[in-house]
Amino acid sequence: MTETKSIEDLPGVGHSVAEKLREAGFHNIEAVAVASPGDLAGVIDGIGESTAAKIIAAARQAANVGGFETGSQILERRKLVGKLTTGSSSLDELLGGGVETQAITEFYGEFGSGKTQMALQLAVNAQLPKSKQGFEGSVIWIDSENTFRPERFVQIAEARNLEPDEVLQNLHVARALNANHQILLVEKSLEKAQELRETDRPVRLLVVDSVTSHFRSEFLGRGTLADRQQKLNKHLHDLIRFSDIHNAAIMVTNQVQSRPDVFFGDPTRPIGGHVMAHTATFRIYLRKSKGEKRIARLVDSPSLPEGEAVFSVSEAGIGD
Ligand code: GTP
Ligand code: MG
Repeated sequence: MTETKSIEDLPGVGHSVAEKLREAGFHNIEAVAVASPGDLAGVIDGIGESTAAKIIAAARQAANVGGFETGSQILERRKLVGKLTTGSSSLDELLGGGVETQAITEFYGEFGSGKTQMALQLAVNAQLPKSKQGFEGSVIWIDSENTFRPERFVQIAEARNLEPDEVLQNLHVARALNANHQILLVEKSLEKAQELRETDRPVRLLVVDSVTSHFRSEFLGRGTLADRQQKLNKHLHDLIRFSDIHNAAIMVTNQVQSRPDVFFGDPTRPIGGHVMAHTATFRIYLRKSKGEKRIARLVDSPSLPEGEAVFSVSEAGIGD
């Protein structure tokens, strides 16, 4: 990804067009590269779709989006991948070091399995110094169930010797009121992350807790499934785009539904069907065990073997 070029460097984009692009939320070449000609023509007076298409093509080339990359270019980009500690060394090991940037990591499981606690812990850890496997970054949190509690976040942060005022300052929380609003909040997140990009606290983690609940409750019944999946697909791809542009980790939580047709084995499965399954880079299934004990199962990953790790949820957050 190009970080040095700005949108003014694109052919056909002068100062005034660049200003209009920025006003419309296209802050960098990567954002322009993944827009459609209609998107751009719609926001800039005097630019038709064919000019917009040329600008997008140039942006794609500059940002190398949607074209071929050589294996070595991909390897170069992968070198930027950061790994964020979960707070549990056995879970970190299962994940090959921690939760990765440039990827979506999904934690799914039933109520009380520890999804929100894991998200809170990651939001704390993302602010830890790099010497403690943190990112020294800011965090964006999209809350769709109104379950974010700053008091609990502070409690976990204090257990890691972080200053409450500081961690709260570096956490940006937005409540998603419905599925469309949740989709819009990713655009807002891009703006926020752009604002913080050149500061000493860039956004390195985006949490969505939970990613599916609005989609599930708004699209009920058979006839709405295609619509729901299409919207969820767009939402997840917006999140991937965010992770690529900002080299950030995306952590999403997801609920499970029970399958009345399964008699043997585990009768639960995550919401979101094949769209969720194909878009999440890493999928981790959380189960309750005795007391504070929890079991995490890595279900899907591009390069790691399946396996399980045991961790704990206590007052201090996630541990071994
Ligand atoms: P839903 O959002 O309902 O689907 O569940 P979830 O998976 O998000 O559950 P969450 O992460 O909120 O886990 C709640 C559980 O974490 C509680 O039932 C407790 O077992 C544990 N927990 C939360 N806070 C504390 C705490 O301060 N101390 C201890 N020991 N455990 C806690
Ligand atoms: Mg929760």
